[in-house]
Amino acid sequence: MANRLRSIAILTSGGDSPGMNCVIRAVTRSAIGQGIKVYGINRGYQGLINNDIHELNASSVGNIIQRGGTILYTSRCPEFMEKATRQKAAQILEDRDIDALIVCGGDGSFKGAIALNEEFNVPVIGIPGTIDNDLSGTDYTIGFDTAVNTAIEAIDKIRDTAQSSDRTFLIEVMGARSSSIALKVGICTGAENILLNTQKIEYQKLANDIRRGIRRGKNSSIIIVAEGEKPGRSYDIANVLEDMYHISSKVCVLGHIQRGGSPQANDRFLASVMGRLAVDSLINGETQGAIVVQSGDVKIVPLSTCSKKSDHAMESFIGVAEGLSI
Ligand code: F6P
Repeated sequence: MANRLRSIAILTSGGDSPGMNCVIRAVTRSAIGQGIKVYGINRGYQGLINNDIHELNASSVGNIIQRGGTILYTSRCPEFMEKATRQKAAQILEDRDIDALIVCGGDGSFKGAIALNEEFNVPVIGIPGTIDNDLSGTDYTIGFDTAVNTAIEAIDKIRDTAQSSDRTFLIEVMGARSSSIALKVGICTGAENILLNTQKIEYQKLANDIRRGIRRGKNSSIIIVAEGEKPGRSYDIANVLEDMYHISSKVCVLGHIQRGGSPQANDRFLASVMGRLAVDSLINGETQGAIVVQSGDVKIVPLSTCSKKSDHAMESFIGVAEGLSI
């Protein structure tokens, strides 16, 4: 940045994730501590184009490090896919003398950030925040660990009742276009099967696996289902198992419980470190970038590195759960 950085704005966008508040706190305090004004934008890009912007101070972000959700609220903003809307956003930032924007969100939020930077030269730093852990260029997105732990806690409880009542359970976890939560949760709960959302369901194999378990003396099975494009698809799967294979099962859709709750240590820590690095990068003259985790390091890379959805961080573990549940 040619001139000294005087003010920045921060927004959270897309699905909220536990740890977003830690990012807001880290960004606000790092900037204020270095003499930079900070503005919070409510409800993501929607709030930006509505000029819903207010100044934050060190105490505005007090007592939030342990809270789930985001104090800046969030939204999905399809309007931001239009160039004219992004132009309006850039103008609002200019009118308010805001020198740079920090965006915390998933792939859709990054796409908006990249376009805003490339088309209108708005300095933007992105911080990956989504429970799905499905962003290219980073091994980790803030919120994933907490969401996985929330699901594990619930599934361990379901295991108790499944075991006691000789039942098969289909447990659906979040991820409309991502199977990362399903994969990690499946491995960590000792699931008998994981149904990814990219794979066609092989019902015969699924039925064979359940029956083989029963022959081996297992009296219950846990099958983790990645949500896919149709939340609640586990009910359809249960119906097919019943109608075609005479296997009855119970369904539990964990849903939005996975998005809430107090962030776990990993999310608090990374969010704090990433928020700090985002501000330092702007101070050091970066005009665009994504703060990512790669092989254990937190670093800045070009914003475009995080432009795509990808389950790459978990992909190599496909098959592990099934291999361990023979
Ligand atoms: O934020 C990611 C995510 O929670 C996905 O796992 C899920 O498929 C989707 O958002 C649900 O979005 P919404 O809350 O808008 O229905």
